Amino acid sequence: MNSTKKATLSFSDGTPSIDFPIYEGTVGPEVIDIRKLYGQTGRFTFDPGFMSTAACDSKITYIDGDKGELLYRGYPIEQLAQNCDYLETCHLLLYGELPNRAQQKDFEFRVTRHTMVHEQMTRFFQGFRRDAHPMAILVGCVGALSAFYHDSLDINDPEHRRISAIRLIAKMPTLVAMAYKYSNGQPFMYPQNKLSYSANFMRMMFGTPCEDYEVNDVLVRALDRILILHADHEQNASTSTVRLAGSSGANPFACIAAGIATLWGPAHGGANEACLQMLDQIHAQGGIAKIGEFISQVKDKNSGVKLMGFGHRVYKNYDPRAKLMRETCYEVLGELGLNNDPLFALSMKLEQIALEDDYFVSRKLYPNVDFYSGIVQKALGIPTSMFTCIFALARTVGWIAQWNEMISDPEQKIGRPRQLFVGSTRRDVKPIDQR
Ligand code: SDX
Repeated sequence: MNSTKKATLSFSDGTPSIDFPIYEGTVGPEVIDIRKLYGQTGRFTFDPGFMSTAACDSKITYIDGDKGELLYRGYPIEQLAQNCDYLETCHLLLYGELPNRAQQKDFEFRVTRHTMVHEQMTRFFQGFRRDAHPMAILVGCVGALSAFYHDSLDINDPEHRRISAIRLIAKMPTLVAMAYKYSNGQPFMYPQNKLSYSANFMRMMFGTPCEDYEVNDVLVRALDRILILHADHEQNASTSTVRLAGSSGANPFACIAAGIATLWGPAHGGANEACLQMLDQIHAQGGIAKIGEFISQVKDKNSGVKLMGFGHRVYKNYDPRAKLMRETCYEVLGELGLNNDPLFALSMKLEQIALEDDYFVSRKLYPNVDFYSGIVQKALGIPTSMFTCIFALARTVGWIAQWNEMISDPEQKIGRPRQLFVGSTRRDVKPIDQR
């Protein structure tokens, strides 16, 4: 990276000032390269939560939080959601370009050839209770995949990285559907490779061996769009986890399992499940009439209540994915004759009231990707407990693309943050009778 500008750090205690190079990207905030700070001053920067820290350079996804803009390899999310399918988006995120027709055919063929999991994988499920949270199952099973692919765990071999990416993208729908089937006692459905990626997933989720599964193209297209909207999102918490795990040289299956574990949290990918539980709770307590009371609770810091699906570390404007998700809600509810879905009406009223309330406006809190995704997934027949698994399924391509970008970087080093130590200084152990 070349630098034409610099930042000068001066100290009030006489420490000599230091110049740091400033780098500019192709778009977005510039960065100050502070890598030599500790070596020259014995001081660290302090940035818990990484509010002002760029952990890497990347070519994959760009977010402009003020404009509410999201680009995958330069393409606006709105155009991808409108004109592409999820596998085209996977090709774009992994290889940097949208596929032409021949490349699309080849990529689809390579993915469909890996949709089955090893038959031994079914035995992992027997160890779980039927009511185990599907994310617990997914973390376990994805991590366990590394036990089956000793032929492709050399992360320094580009071919091994390529086949691991294909295997993960191909097998996530199968594992997610298996977690769902296990929870309701129905038999696992094997993938059918003549179906499209999302149709194959819907059949594995909702089909049974007793009858042919009728594909509903509107619902399949809606699911495919949900996967596109969740595919990648710069250096979010789970992606940063995957990068940090990968920086130690861990295999890609273990790294993705770490990403799934991080995504599970309600502040991150678990927000869609928490958001629907929030809407169900308001609905049960009286619905739209009770919104004012709920908003008062949210504004009361002592209540610990948050408006789930609202707010974002980066977006200080409307999350473009939330708009697209709301449109998808209309389409799916219309197709299913659920235009009067009470939760959809409740969520739109909640959004309207929140966006007129200074508490949210002053904090630049807008709906994020999770605000509407639960409603449309519920309408598709996906149970609330499966929402974050769908998010993990979709985000696998983003995680693996970001992991691959990091591993391919010749300057890549193991990530090892430091700390400000505020604990006890050195002291000696006393015999127990003197403590
Ligand atoms: C995802 O990073 C990504 O890109 C993530 C993601 C992706 O695609 O990977 O976009 C996916 O995780 C979306 C976010 C889903 N999470 C939620 O919807 C949970 C609810 N949202 C909040 O927990 C929160 O908004 C975060 C975690 C999303 C962002 O938190 P920040 O950036 O640390 O902001 P903050 O918690 O410091 O909030 C700033 C202020 C605080 O109030 P004050 O201290 O200024 O008085 O806003 C308040 C917060 O209390 N606030 C909220 C709120 N979110 C923030 N108040 C009520 N409801 C909320 N949802």
